[in-house]
Amino acid sequence: MDALKHAIETNGTVLPGNILKVNSFLNHQIDPELMQQIGQSFADYFQKAGITKVLTVEASGIAPAVLTGLAMHLPVVFARKSKSLVVKDDVYSAKVYSYTKNTSNHIYVEKQFLDNTDRVLIIDDFLANGEATKGLIKITKAAGATVGGIGIVIEKTFQPGGAYLRDHDYDVLSLAKIASLDNQKVTFAD
Ligand code: G4P
Ligand code: NA
Ligand code: NA
Repeated sequence: MDALKHAIETNGTVLPGNILKVNSFLNHQIDPELMQQIGQSFADYFQKAGITKVLTVEASGIAPAVLTGLAMHLPVVFARKSKSLVVKDDVYSAKVYSYTKNTSNHIYVEKQFLDNTDRVLIIDDFLANGEATKGLIKITKAAGATVGGIGIVIEKTFQPGGAYLRDHDYDVLSLAKIASLDNQKVTFAD
């Protein structure tokens, strides 16, 4: 996606630890017009995948997920995060380890918002190690629903999440693929 690549090149900065900071359009301030194009790109690609619901995790997944749901005319559910285990019988939950923050979160979705008739499109802002996505897959399966696709705004292809998901036959569309952040420089994969 050219507009996204342009935004990354123009406004992205690279932090130590191979972190791409995109706070000016994705992770803090949000560019709604860019999000709309992102949502439309996911909608175009997954149009024939039989999707019934868009699923993401708070906070940064919500903007691209909502614009995807708008373009596809589908509801959007975001998993909530909790520091502690949510033990309630009306939620599906998963434990998600963050390598970036070196902490574990629990994420959960109320059972009323996912069921075995759903075919889910998982959306997230970043795909790095894939832990967040795996948590969303676990929740989807717990509901008896199926994963119809995975849409990622920015994939860091030098981390293992994308390869893991494709090896497990998920249809993953990443709108920007970053092959390297070495020497504080963004190198795209294609
Ligand atoms: P994973 O999500 O693929 O498992 O990767 P990881 O554990 O490394 O990431 C933990 C958090 O850091 C996630 O956000 C993820 O989106 C974010 N992240 C990973 N790599 C980058 C990066 O290069 N740049 C930025 N800006 N974020 C990155 P989160 O903890 O769910 O936070 P939130 O922003 O959604 O609240
Ligand atoms: Na994030
Ligand atoms: Na995220």
